[in-house]
Amino acid sequence: MSRSICCLFVLMIVAGWSMPAALLAADTVCIECHGGQEGRLGAPVAQWRTSVHAANGISCNDCHGGDPTDYAMAMSPERGFIGVPKYTEVPDFCGRCHVGVAEDYKAGAHGQAIDRGAAQCVVCHGNHAIQRASLDLINETDCSRCHSYERAALIRMSLVETDTMVRKVETDLDRLYRLGFAVNDMQDRLFNQRNVFHRTFHGVNVDEVRQKTAGVQAELGKINMEVASIDTTLGERKLWGSVTIAIFILTGVVFLLVRKAYEEDEKG
Ligand code: HEC
Ligand code: HEC
Ligand code: HEC
Ligand code: HEC
Ligand code: HEC
Repeated sequence: MSRSICCLFVLMIVAGWSMPAALLAADTVCIECHGGQEGRLGAPVAQWRTSVHAANGISCNDCHGGDPTDYAMAMSPERGFIGVPKYTEVPDFCGRCHVGVAEDYKAGAHGQAIDRGAAQCVVCHGNHAIQRASLDLINETDCSRCHSYERAALIRMSLVETDTMVRKVETDLDRLYRLGFAVNDMQDRLFNQRNVFHRTFHGVNVDEVRQKTAGVQAELGKINMEVASIDTTLGERKLWGSVTIAIFILTGVVFLLVRKAYEEDEKG
């Protein structure tokens, strides 16, 4: 009797104890073991937790390979462990998932000069604490480490200009959608242009970026015109709405005046 109570007690403690671990379902043997290591072996865990990859369920083993369920065999090549890529191997390492980006990168000046130490993925994005990308990654401090900033600045200018336009069209379409307009077609076209746009940077080619962003801007311009024409119709509708209301009010006032005059007439 007392033994089974004791057992129950122990079970409860164990269950309570393992609860937080069970909730962190993403905790693999990689994270458990590396989390307890010092220095360069432990640091990746805390950094990775802040990353866009952790937020999207991409864990140590998704990048490094290996078996995340087996303590003893976790880092065995037989279980697909890749280990740490060399500098020149990084584009293929990341490119297993980011196929289009890796393609553009390899065809561009950085990809072509990677043997001469040109920037690759982790130079710009980092490795474990990777965040959502933004045009802020293109800045004088980071881009002038290996060459002058001049060409980088030209690329940044075209991209920022186009990005601003993309955002404006996004807001406009959201607004029209909320007003009940059918904007599916325009949204599809915006989606396509956004894809083209986000595939311009990694080739780091000033002329190509200019040419592609000009194409994107032209298409966005067309969507802008359609938005403007809907807005004009909306404006006219609003105008007619106000005129109608004014007529209603006027009619009401006239009616009241007439009735008042009539009532006074009756009294008199
Ligand atoms: C039981 C502890 C333990 C487990 C489990 C474990 N590691 Fe390791 N890991 C280590 C130690 C210790 C080292 C450094 C010594 C070595 O390279 O073997 C290391 C090294 C590494 C390195 C660097 C290798 C290098 O060449 O510098 C990577 C990457 C790595 N582990 C990833 C993983 C991944 C991914 C998993 C899960 C699939 C994992 N580890 C599971 C203890 C562990
Ligand atoms: C997005 C892919 C990615 C993920 C996810 C990832 N790593 Fe890495 N890791 C890399 C890359 C790339 C390198 C090579 C470092 C470099 O070139 O800057 C690396 C290097 C390492 C090293 C060697 C560090 C050194 O200084 O020698 C260890 C250890 C390591 N990773 C462990 C982990 C652990 C543990 C996790 C999970 C918490 C993890 N990595 C998650 C991409 C990743
Ligand atoms: C010279 C710096 C640099 C290098 C090298 C680089 N990137 Fe980028 N990356 C950027 C910048 C800047 C952006 C933002 C561009 C944009 O918004 O279109 C970006 C955007 C991205 C995005 C988001 C794309 C999207 O559709 O929004 C991914 C994913 C990415 N990079 C992965 C990689 C990978 C993988 C590599 C290596 C093959 C790499 N990057 C090499 C600077 C770099
Ligand atoms: C196992 C697949 C996988 C690998 C390998 C991988 N990633 Fe990712 N990455 C993802 C997923 C999934 C996302 C989140 C979904 C998304 O928004 O694209 C992501 C997101 C990103 C983003 C943010 C994209 C954005 O929209 O801003 C960047 C930047 C990025 N990864 C860079 C890298 C770099 C650099 C490497 C190599 C060190 C790498 N990734 C390796 C799967 C992977
Ligand atoms: C680790 C060094 C390194 C970093 C950091 C770096 N680059 Fe480069 N870049 C190179 C090398 C090497 C080349 C090829 C040699 C050349 O053409 O000068 C190159 C070439 C280029 C070119 C094409 C050549 C030209 O003049 O038109 C552009 C554009 C460029 N980089 C933009 C950038 C941008 C933007 C950044 C920052 C997001 C950046 N680079 C960061 C090393 C780097």
